[in-house]
Amino acid sequence: MSKKVVIATVKPFSPAARQQVEALLKKAGYETAAIESYEGPGPLHAAVADANALIVRSDKIDAEVIAAAKELKLVVRAGAGYDNVDCAAAKGAGVAVMNTPGQNSNAVAELVFGMMVYMARGQFNGKPGTELKGKTLGIHAVGFVGRAVATIAKGFGMNVIGFDPFVDADKMKASGVTPVSSVEDLYSKSDYVSLHIPATAETKGSIGKALLSRMPQGGVLINTARKEVINDAEMAEVLAERADLKYATDIAGDNDAELKEKFAGRYYSTPKKMGAQTLEANTNAGVAAANQIVAFFEKGDRTFVVND
Ligand code: 3PG
Repeated sequence: MSKKVVIATVKPFSPAARQQVEALLKKAGYETAAIESYEGPGPLHAAVADANALIVRSDKIDAEVIAAAKELKLVVRAGAGYDNVDCAAAKGAGVAVMNTPGQNSNAVAELVFGMMVYMARGQFNGKPGTELKGKTLGIHAVGFVGRAVATIAKGFGMNVIGFDPFVDADKMKASGVTPVSSVEDLYSKSDYVSLHIPATAETKGSIGKALLSRMPQGGVLINTARKEVINDAEMAEVLAERADLKYATDIAGDNDAELKEKFAGRYYSTPKKMGAQTLEANTNAGVAAANQIVAFFEKGDRTFVVND
């Protein structure tokens, strides 16, 4: 009997990307099914019942979903951050979890610059703004996205510095990033900080007053990472205390309405997380996920497993 792959995406792939993913899997002899834009856990629980593998985005794959998926062997998060998947519950049930690192980085990096220009030009209000050229950009975590941001920043003529305790200095330098020795130093020196840290127990709520108040006059924080890494209360406090600071995010926090109301002109949030929402990123991540599924079942390839 052929294996079944379910594509579960609350935020759907572009139709062309999904078609490519399905065609690849069908050609390899797999059955496919998809649920998109579903509401609540019910449809997901039903859809995973006979799935052998799942392709998801930010869809919440918790212990209940894993328990409802009796035939499941593999979950592939078509994207980078897998904080939406309960990796321990998956491991306990013998289910491997993978991500597709790097596949959607360029899309996210391009959005960072869209947001930086938008903030530098007063949200396109027609008044004189500032330029990115000559400014210092601090990249907080220098993984695939951080490095793609660095590449684009050079084209804008920015001075690029970075902090990442998990990436060695030579690797950063090879990507055009001058490493700084502490996270405090990064914020103190950066006119713009672009966040690329994952949401983990250590990073949740870690971006607050202590770091933000270090930023130079007119500092701008750009968040295309995760809302959970921001300390919402302290963000509101710092924006109130420092009328020069700005914050733009692709993942609105729970205090989005408050920030919009109090700090119009200095705060911006996208209506829906859209960093990875391009045809190219959807195709790259979706196709990589499909290829990883085929390699896992046909060759036992566990290269991208994150919960071993
Ligand atoms: C990622 O972790 O890959 C990005 O945050 C994109 O997430 P999305 O697939 O939910 O848009």
